[in-house]
Amino acid sequence: MKALTVPTLLVTLIAPLSSQTPSTTALDQRVQAYLDAQRGRWPGGHFLDVDGRLLYDLILQNEYTRVIEIGTGTGHSAIWLAWALSKTGGKLTTIEINESRCREAAGRFQETGLSELIDVRCADALELLPKLQDPFDLVFMDAPIIRDFFDAASPKLVVGGRYVTHGVRGGEPAEYVGYLESLTDFETTFDTGGDFCTSRKKSEP
Ligand SMILES: C[S@@+](CC[C@H](N)C(=O)[O-])C[C@H]1O[C@@H](n2cnc3c(N)ncnc32)[C@H](O)[C@@H]1O
Repeated sequence: MKALTVPTLLVTLIAPLSSQTPSTTALDQRVQAYLDAQRGRWPGGHFLDVDGRLLYDLILQNEYTRVIEIGTGTGHSAIWLAWALSKTGGKLTTIEINESRCREAAGRFQETGLSELIDVRCADALELLPKLQDPFDLVFMDAPIIRDFFDAASPKLVVGGRYVTHGVRGGEPAEYVGYLESLTDFETTFDTGGDFCTSRKKSEP
């Protein structure tokens, strides 16, 4: 057996360890600390970390990079989305109609170190969506559950992209759910484990 020099021995021992350990960056630590400190303190509080983790995983598993959010609120869900996009090299455009929430969310994005990955657009999503550059990989909809947002955003999704509707529980609201299920170019799944359903674009209409 060939004798190993000390540097070679170190590389041999350390390399397998580092390839098994998920890399935690300074940004990861900053975002995680922010989310830990904010847990249970978000205004409204209807978006939970479990939803954030599921969206985070969805982005990484599908290597999504072009993500749109409808309804920034004060920024909880956007932080999860942008955190995932820091791993895939993507960007988030998040749309909020209320000016003071836009300002509050933008401040939070600065605090987490994610602001360079997030374009905050203070606008009515129904007016802005048709003007945004497409295609989109993922749309996260966390505003009132109406069909109009889906109709404005879904033509801009790539095949394989997803439209995620937050707040759909069981078969409710029935009219909205019935609409999603009637679409032959989308496959909608309800057993996501989170407080949302996902509609995957299967084909162009
Ligand atoms: C449930 S909150 C969003 C919560 C946010 N995603 C979070 O994690 O904190 C819904 C938001 O949608 C916004 N909204 C309602 N209609 C909108 C529209 N047409 N365009 C953009 N935002 C809208 C509301 O102002 C509100 O802040």
